Amino acid sequence: MEFFDYFSGLYGERWPRLLDALKGEGRAMELRFGENLEPYYLDEASYFAASVLDARPGMDVLDMCAAPGGKSLVIASMLQGQGSLQSNDRSPDRRLRLTHVLENSLPAAWLDIIKVTGYDGMKFGLHRKESYDRILLDAPCSSDRHVLNSPAHLEVWSVKRVKRLSVEQGALLASAVDALRPGGVLVYGTCALSPLENDKVVEKILKKRPSMRPVPIDDIPPGADRTEFGVHVLPDTSEGRGPIYCAKLTKF
Ligand SMILES: C[S@@+](CC[C@H](N)C(=O)[O-])C[C@H]1O[C@@H](n2cnc3c(N)ncnc32)[C@H](O)[C@@H]1O
Repeated sequence: MEFFDYFSGLYGERWPRLLDALKGEGRAMELRFGENLEPYYLDEASYFAASVLDARPGMDVLDMCAAPGGKSLVIASMLQGQGSLQSNDRSPDRRLRLTHVLENSLPAAWLDIIKVTGYDGMKFGLHRKESYDRILLDAPCSSDRHVLNSPAHLEVWSVKRVKRLSVEQGALLASAVDALRPGGVLVYGTCALSPLENDKVVEKILKKRPSMRPVPIDDIPPGADRTEFGVHVLPDTSEGRGPIYCAKLTKF
């Protein structure tokens, strides 16, 4: 089948172990911000990607593709109710879940600074030029772990779709870059396995937007791989975490 041939070609001898790990248990952590608040379970690699953003109290932050909201919870905990967080997602259904997650898992004082919006991420670069200190773009991607565990999704998976997604990711990333203030930090992330959706998207934006530079990521999860521009956390070497790719960029 196309999926298996493609990734076995990409990962070579590593693929059988990686495939087993992708089918196995993930590694979730509990986020709980108060005794009477709902806990939220998030993959440890997702927590890592959100923390790479290094949001600090007082900053203006955009989570461009935020639903169902796990990474917005992490960002809200970094802001501690000071600054602003715009948790945006284009899908109305997923936005309902996002609102539910934020309202049920965050203390009221942290919620006060959060606005949930439903804009197309592609538009931020034009309408909110240089408006944010921090932007997380957790882009729509192939979600390969999910695909693998869903026969219906496996059936429609194709290299053509991976390429189509990488074009969409590039356009969202260009929009995020344009919405970032000079001196700001942007984290681009996916849960995809293919470099076409990861380093290649970053490589293209660095060529298109010379004001952007990659920033080294210091603390990475055990067993994660460093790539040309970022970090790839894969479950075979990282105790079940991931897959998560993330790259940290800044604007001069
Ligand atoms: C990988 S998920 C985000 C997961 C989320 N960051 C979290 O940690 O819970 C990608 C999201 O992007 C949203 N999305 C897709 N295209 C979009 C666009 N053009 N603008 C805004 N959101 C978009 C999808 O609805 C989906 O919820």
